[in-house]
Amino acid sequence: MNHTSSTIHEASQPWSEKYRPRSLDDISAQEETVAVLRKTIVSQNLPHMLFYGPPGTGKTSTILAIARELYGPENMKIRVKELNASDDRGIDVIRQKVKKFARNTIGNPISDGYSCPPYKIIILDEADSMTHEAQAALRRLMEDYSTTTRFCIICNYVTRIIEPIVSRCAQFRFKSLDNFSAKSRLQMICDKERVIYEPEVLDELVKVANGDMRMAIMYLQTAYSVYKDEVITTKFFIPDAVIEELIQSAQSHSFNNIEKAVSHFILSGYSAVQLLSQIQDHIVYDNDNRFSNIQKANMAICIGEMDKCLADGCDEHLQILNLIATISKNILFSEEMITD
Ligand SMILES: Nc1ncnc2c1ncn2[C@@H]1O[C@H](COP(=O)(O)OP(=O)(O)OP(=O)(O)O)[C@@H](O)[C@H]1O
Ligand SMILES: [Mg+2]
Repeated sequence: MNHTSSTIHEASQPWSEKYRPRSLDDISAQEETVAVLRKTIVSQNLPHMLFYGPPGTGKTSTILAIARELYGPENMKIRVKELNASDDRGIDVIRQKVKKFARNTIGNPISDGYSCPPYKIIILDEADSMTHEAQAALRRLMEDYSTTTRFCIICNYVTRIIEPIVSRCAQFRFKSLDNFSAKSRLQMICDKERVIYEPEVLDELVKVANGDMRMAIMYLQTAYSVYKDEVITTKFFIPDAVIEELIQSAQSHSFNNIEKAVSHFILSGYSAVQLLSQIQDHIVYDNDNRFSNIQKANMAICIGEMDKCLADGCDEHLQILNLIATISKNILFSEEMITD
């Protein structure tokens, strides 16, 4: 890759990837977990591992950092297999892909100064969305290939993993990032990217992201894309109550209410781009289970379309009005489908 294309690649990269911790030292806020893992690396004898905890707390980054420290950046390409269980959650993927990789014998690695222990690592990300049959098949594979392979099973909810797998793994809990750690990490990124901001902005970001570092970094990057070289202000973050007002106007199915809520939103001076990220968290992730799957899917389509229109420079007021009215229509339409 020449210099120009690598610069373009870096510029278009999401900051959450660009600033993914490369080593265990770089992982913030998981001191106890990292300390135990570091000891395991020194002993070279990795157990099967189960990482669990909320999104954006460093689970995937940690296993990749371990692999890099054991094998080095080159060897890890052939020694580590990352499978995203929720893309391919059936029993077939476990039988075929895992078996094929686990069975292949390891060639002679170029050690390059790395210890390169004689086993491979299979990372099964988002394992809590695997079926029980697939998990049962995995249990068997873990036993059959334990001399040549270590599994790292990653999930948000440990209770969704079957007991025989849990008991075969060393368990590591990842906790939500505390405000201080999350803020320092954001500060580091702001310094590197030359972002200028009001001092309260980082506190606000950390509060909105609620311990999810990926989300905090994504919001920061969105804010930067809106403000560019100007000072980012706390006005960027939309209070939950304001978003709820828009959602409730959609749920009321009254165009007057929608018009009123949207005008109020616009007059308050919030950014439409930020509304998209935050409304998505309210609706698509929907912690209170207010919306059905069909409703969420339809609303996700509206959000995606609005994102494109805003990027093309369309009028913000009209776009938000369109979004809320379309959401309202979709809720009504899918309510009718459900009751039919
Ligand atoms: N503990 C952490 N220290 C530093 N950066 C972090 C940490 N946790 C998350 N991040 C940032 O968030 C991004 C996503 O982290 P990662 O993929 O490791 O999260 P995860 O715990 O695997 O989340 P998920 O459950 O959603 O898969 C990283 O690329 C990094 O920029
Ligand atoms: Mg992950």
